[in-house]
Amino acid sequence: MEEIRIAILGHRFMGRAHSNAWLQAPRFFDLPYKPVLQVACGRDTDSLQAFADRWGWAEIETDWRKLLERDDIDAIDIALPTHLHAETAIAAAEAGKHIFCEKPFCNSTAEAEAILAAAEKAGVVHYLNHNYRRCPAVTLAKKLIDEGEIGEIYHWRGAYQQSWLTNAEYPVDWKLKKATAGAGPLWDLGSHAVDLAHYLVGDFKEISCRGKQFISERPLASDPSQMGEVEVECAALMTGEFQNGALATIETTRYATGQKNRHTFEIYGSKGSMTWDMQDMNRLQFYSTSDAEHASGFRDILVTERCHEYVNAWWPPGHIIGYEHGFVHAAVDFLQAIKDGKGITPDFHDGVRIMKVLDAALESMDGSGGPIAIS
Ligand SMILES: NC(=O)c1ccc[n+]([C@@H]2O[C@H](COP(=O)([O-])OP(=O)(O)OC[C@H]3O[C@@H](n4cnc5c(N)ncnc54)[C@H](O)[C@@H]3O)[C@@H](O)[C@H]2O)c1
Repeated sequence: MEEIRIAILGHRFMGRAHSNAWLQAPRFFDLPYKPVLQVACGRDTDSLQAFADRWGWAEIETDWRKLLERDDIDAIDIALPTHLHAETAIAAAEAGKHIFCEKPFCNSTAEAEAILAAAEKAGVVHYLNHNYRRCPAVTLAKKLIDEGEIGEIYHWRGAYQQSWLTNAEYPVDWKLKKATAGAGPLWDLGSHAVDLAHYLVGDFKEISCRGKQFISERPLASDPSQMGEVEVECAALMTGEFQNGALATIETTRYATGQKNRHTFEIYGSKGSMTWDMQDMNRLQFYSTSDAEHASGFRDILVTERCHEYVNAWWPPGHIIGYEHGFVHAAVDFLQAIKDGKGITPDFHDGVRIMKVLDAALESMDGSGGPIAIS
């Protein structure tokens, strides 16, 4: 079997999630290529070697540029902080490597357009990892919408709520600095919510945003006895309108006490409605106005049947899957896209669309909070 040899940049949270995906994909799915975990790249040799040993990466490297000169690397997997995505993705494209890139895409729409241009010019496969699209219940939601089961969509209500910053001891790391993260939950969590809104409803016409900072100083990660400035918002609330006339609200926060990773959407339309909650990710709630009045109500669909996308490769019906499976499904589709040459979504075109909304929301939040048109 032909191989796709991968180099991963970054070896912490997403480094682990991606490594697991590359390892699991060939065990459960029939793939066109064998993914080979060739090189893990990072800065600290000791922790990098430990990571490589645990996950089976054949080699380690501390200079990502050297990887791009190698003929035995076919794809670059970017699991680095957001400010490093543009430089690494553009260089990877110029070196003719396929790219699997984490979200948020990058630090501005201008950067996004430059990455897209480089990837298109090189003709490489480019994928932006909004993994929630590949939860089977979300894929079912898309299918029901495309089949007309929801009718005209009136409302999108998205929320991505976490609570890790309610801990005042949490230090100022890259996620709390503008230069490295671009923004706070508005981009980190909002990019996922906007991607799902694009996927399920369509493009935005305009967006407004209001942000709030609850704690503005925290211990420095490098020296906890010193305090450092939190440069990004702690919570951001977006409202908007889609081009198709539907209204949107999107709530993003790291201060939802007790909510660990509550990523939800609600869609209300002329013929039906649906709701989904990441923390109960195998289920889709679906309401249809075509049900008999005496039996109407939300159906609780357990999305684990053989007919549901991706599910057949895993376990028998009712044997649920979890967070990591969205990454495995992305790895599978990425390898298939390399074979087919047809691309995979969300790709860097989607990344540009998302960055336009996130940039507009940031502009609104930093300004009057009023609506900004999306071009
Ligand atoms: N898809 C998702 O649901 C999801 C979840 C979490 C994070 N992310 C995204 O994944 C990316 C990485 O986030 P994370 O949570 O894994 O971060 P992390 O802080 O856990 O890991 C970042 C990695 O990058 C390395 N790194 C940092 N600066 C570097 C540099 N200058 N050169 C080389 N290596 C460097 C670090 O050593 C570390 O291995 C971010 O874009 C983040 O938004 C996505």
